[in-house]
Amino acid sequence: LNYQVPRTRKEIFETLVKGLQRLEYRGYDSAGIAVDSPHKTTSDINNSICLIKKKGKVKALDEEIHQKELLDLDEELHTHFGLAHTRWATHGEPSALNSHPHRSDKNNEFVVIHNGIITNYKELKKYLITKGYEFESDTDTEVIPKLIKYIYDNRENNSITFSTLVERVIKQLEGAFALVFKSRHYPGEAVSTRRGSPLLIGVRSEHELHTEHIPVQYNNAGHFKEEVQEKNSHNKSDSSNAINSVGDGKAVEYYFASDASAIIEHTNKVLYMEDDDIAVVKGGNLSIHRMNRQAGEDPVRAVQTLQMELQQIMKGNFEAFMQKEIFEQPESVVNTMRGRICFDTNAVVLGGLKDHLKEIKRCRRLIMIGCGTSFHAAVATRQILEELTELPVMVELASDFLDRYTPVFRDDVCFFISQSGETADTLMALRYCKDRGALTVGITNTVGSSICRETDCGVHINAGPEIGVASTKAYTSQFVALIMFGLMMSEDRLSLQKRRQEIIQGLKMLPELIKKVLSLDEKIKTIANELYEQKSLLVMGRGYNYATCLEGALKIKEITYMHSEGILAGELKHGPLALIDKHMPVIMIMMRDACYTKCQNALQQVTARSGRPIILCCQEDSEAIKDAYQTIELPQAVDCLQGILSVIPLQLMSFHLAVLRGYDVDCPRNLAKSVTVE
Ligand code: G6P
Repeated sequence: LNYQVPRTRKEIFETLVKGLQRLEYRGYDSAGIAVDSPHKTTSDINNSICLIKKKGKVKALDEEIHQKELLDLDEELHTHFGLAHTRWATHGEPSALNSHPHRSDKNNEFVVIHNGIITNYKELKKYLITKGYEFESDTDTEVIPKLIKYIYDNRENNSITFSTLVERVIKQLEGAFALVFKSRHYPGEAVSTRRGSPLLIGVRSEHELHTEHIPVQYNNAGHFKEEVQEKNSHNKSDSSNAINSVGDGKAVEYYFASDASAIIEHTNKVLYMEDDDIAVVKGGNLSIHRMNRQAGEDPVRAVQTLQMELQQIMKGNFEAFMQKEIFEQPESVVNTMRGRICFDTNAVVLGGLKDHLKEIKRCRRLIMIGCGTSFHAAVATRQILEELTELPVMVELASDFLDRYTPVFRDDVCFFISQSGETADTLMALRYCKDRGALTVGITNTVGSSICRETDCGVHINAGPEIGVASTKAYTSQFVALIMFGLMMSEDRLSLQKRRQEIIQGLKMLPELIKKVLSLDEKIKTIANELYEQKSLLVMGRGYNYATCLEGALKIKEITYMHSEGILAGELKHGPLALIDKHMPVIMIMMRDACYTKCQNALQQVTARSGRPIILCCQEDSEAIKDAYQTIELPQAVDCLQGILSVIPLQLMSFHLAVLRGYDVDCPRNLAKSVTVE
C-alpha cells in the first residue's frame, strides 16, 4: 500500500507481480491480483475493485494484465492498495475461479487473499447459502469474503470500522490463515490478520523510521469498540493509546507478505505479526490490535532490520535456483559454522542454546521432529547424537508423531527442524510438546519464522534463503548444526574428546571436500544421461548413509517424477531384493565406515541377480569399483560427516535427470516449498 507516494498503475502492477514471482516457490498453480479500477471506467464511486485471475504461473497473469486495455497503466495514484496471490491448491482444482483474490459478490465489495486452510468452511458455507449468498468457487477461502459482507450488511451502525469487521470474521474461523482484506467501502485502507500461517509487514518510508516498536492495542472488553479505534487513530498525542506513527502522514509504503523474499527489494524493515493480531493501515499509519492480553505476551511488535540481500534470492548464472543452491554448499556450511566453532581449542558454542544447556543435559531423551528433508537431517545425525550426548534420540515425522499422540514429558527435549520454520505439521507438533511442558528447540533457516518465535531456544542454520522447492543446502546446514549441537553437549566428556577433535577437524575440511564433490558434476550428468528414461531408481545404503538414501530418493521423486526408493541395505533381503533384475537401476552407497562389509554383502546380493549397481564409494576403492557398473568416487570424510558429501551427487543427479526429462526443476508439479497447511 503506498501512501502519498506517487506511483503509476504500471509500477504498482510491477511491484505486485514481482513480489508474486519471488513467492512463486510457495505455490504456482494459479495467480490473481486486485487493484482499484481507474476512475474513468466506473460510473460508481471511485473505489471499484478490478480483479484479474489466471490459471498457471505468475507469468500468465502478467501477460493477462498487459492485455487488459481497460486499465490505464500510466495513471498516477497517490494512495493505492493492491493485493496479489499465488496459489497452491488444497480445496478446489487449479483454475482462474478458484484462484485468489476471492470476492464477496459481483461488485467486489470485499476481496481477500488467504494462505492456509479454513477447516470449518463447510458449516460456514452452508449457513451463508441459507442467507442467500452464492458461491462461485470450490475453495474453503470463499467463505471469508462472503462472511465479511454478511457482517457488514447486518451491521448495527454505519460507522463500523474495517478492523472490527475482520475481527468478527476471524472469531468464526477455524484452521490456519494469513489474510489481507481490501474493500471498496474502505478505500485506501488495508486490514490483515493471521493465525497459524506466517505474515509480515514491510515498511518503507522516505523518512527515517522513528520507532523500533509498534505498540499493540488490547481491548479487554472482548471486542474492539469503534469509538476506541476512532479515538486512537486521531489522537496521536495520547501515548498510551498511540497507534504508532510509522507513517505520521508522511510518504510511506507498506507491504504485507508471507515471507521477506517478496519485499526485500523495497525494504529491509519488517515486523512479524503474531497470531490473532489485526493490522490496519489507514491514513498512512499502521496500527496493530488484538483481543485481551495473555500472560507473558509481548505488547509490542519490533521493527526488525533484515540481513537478507536481494542478490541472495536471484538465480545469477545458474539454470535454476536448485542448481545455484547445490553449488552454494561450500559457503553455506561455513555460514552455519561461522563464529560457533573454534578450530584451535575445539570449543563449540551455539549462542541460542547455551543458556539451556544444563537443562538439556539433564533430559530423559531427545526427540527430533520434522517433515521431508528436515526429517532426513534428523535421521542423518541420530547416530552421532546418540554417541555424543549419550541420550536416547527419537526421530519423528511430525504428522505421524501427532497421529500417535506420542507421549511427551516435561523432561524431554524436543527439536523442531524446519528450513522455512513454518511447516504446519512441525508447528503443530511444537505446540503439542510445549503443552506437555517439554523444552522446545528450533533448528530453522528463517529468522522470525513461527517455529523460531514459538520455541524456547534454538539455532539458526544461516544457510541463506533457499528458493528451489527441493531442499539442498538447508539439508547440509541442518546436518552441520545438529552435529555442532552434539559437539557442544560433549564438551566436558573426557572419553569423547578424541572423537570430538576428529569431527571438528573434519568440519574444518568440509568446504574443500564439498568443492571436490561438486567437481564431479560432469560425470554425474553423463550417468544421468543413461538413466533419464528409466521409470525407477533405487538408492541403497546403511548406517550413517541411510539418510542419504532417503534424501536422495526424495530429491529424485520430487523433481524428476521417477519412482525412487531409499532402501536400508539391511532390509534388502526382506523384500526389496525382489525388485532387482538387470533392468532396475540401483545406486549403492558404500563408504569406508563400520558398515562397509555389510554393504559389500548387499552388493553381492545385487550383482548375483544381474543387477547393475552405480556405486558411490570412497576414492580409489578398488574393491567396490570392481563390481560396479558405474562409480562415483568421493573424498573420504569422518564417518558421521560423510553423509554431507554423499548426498551431493544425488542432488546433482536429480537435477540433471529433471532437466533431461524436460521438467521445471524449481517448480515441481503439485508441490510447494513451504507447506503451511496440515
Ligand atoms: C515441503 C518441501 C520440502 C521440505 C518440507 C519440510 O514438503 O517441499 O522440500 O523438506 O516441506 O519443510 P521445512 O520448511 O519444514 O523444512
